[in-house]
Amino acid sequence: MTIIDGKKVAQEIRNELKEKVAGLKSAYGKVPGLVTIIVGENPASKVYVRMKHKACEEVGMNPKIEALPATTSEDELVSLIKKYNNDENFHGILVQLPLPEQIDEDKIIETISPEKDVDGFHPVNVGKLLIGQDTFEPCTPAGVVELLKRYNIETKGKHVVVVGRSNIVGKPVAAMLLQKKEGANAIVTVCHSAANNLSDYTKSADILIAAIGRPRFITGEMVKEGVVVIDVGINRVDAPETKKGYKLVGDVDFDDVSQKASFITPVPGGVGPMTIAMLLNNTYKSFLRKQK
Ligand SMILES: NC(=O)c1ccc[n+]([C@@H]2O[C@H](COP(=O)([O-])OP(=O)(O)OC[C@H]3O[C@@H](n4cnc5c(N)ncnc54)[C@H](OP(=O)(O)O)[C@@H]3O)[C@@H](O)[C@H]2O)c1
Repeated sequence: MTIIDGKKVAQEIRNELKEKVAGLKSAYGKVPGLVTIIVGENPASKVYVRMKHKACEEVGMNPKIEALPATTSEDELVSLIKKYNNDENFHGILVQLPLPEQIDEDKIIETISPEKDVDGFHPVNVGKLLIGQDTFEPCTPAGVVELLKRYNIETKGKHVVVVGRSNIVGKPVAAMLLQKKEGANAIVTVCHSAANNLSDYTKSADILIAAIGRPRFITGEMVKEGVVVIDVGINRVDAPETKKGYKLVGDVDFDDVSQKASFITPVPGGVGPMTIAMLLNNTYKSFLRKQK
């Protein structure tokens, strides 16, 4: 059994990007810029935004944070996004979700120029993803596919079962692995909460991707021997023995499932670190597209 080390792979990607960004600086005299817009005081969002900012700096890109008060109106946010749509110094625009309730998330996502939509959430980019055109792949699904590639895990003709159909993980990862191309070409089944007997599906998976949001939901008896398991879940569970009083676990019961798996991602240290690495990759891609 191999534990897929997302932390290590993410660091490798960041190292590669650092070199590529240095190359851009000498070729074009400028580097990719990423603006992250955060509205309100959500503590988890603040942590994510800081992590993205730091990772951007580390690879030599130009990051900027726009922190707006929780009372910001939809019109104000729309105006700010439009400003960055027209600012040549920024190649990526990311609006940290969730947004306060007075702001319509769909409208905000649609305001971001598809050319700068490095999260890959704009309907134009979602459509391109589905029909197999070049686009910005959403970061977490892109991280999943990249991990499979870097561990040389064959996907062609394999049965991939995705548990979860969210717009940010389940649906896009299914669409990506379905494409008729290298690193994909899988037979894909997508499950959700209406599945009557989930095990009937998960047991037939060669590759199981769990994006459910329920701690240790997938158990050993739900998978077959030799399965590849990618656990996207990040769940907080009480752990009085730890300093913080809680710990993070995935959607997969790691101790149980790892007895049968051939490859498995841990939580933390699996898919999680890949998300930011893929965001940087998309920002780099956006910069290159702009130069062409
Ligand atoms: N960077 C990262 O690593 C990263 C990024 C994003 C998310 N995550 C984590 O990944 C997990 C999923 O996130 P998400 O945003 O995709 O969650 P979500 O929007 O809540 O979607 C959860 C999906 O799981 C399905 N589900 C729930 N209970 C089920 C059950 N009993 N049987 C089968 N399917 C069930 C739901 O089905 P219905 O559609 O029928 O409700 C839904 O499609 C969370 O733990 C989240 O924290 C991690």
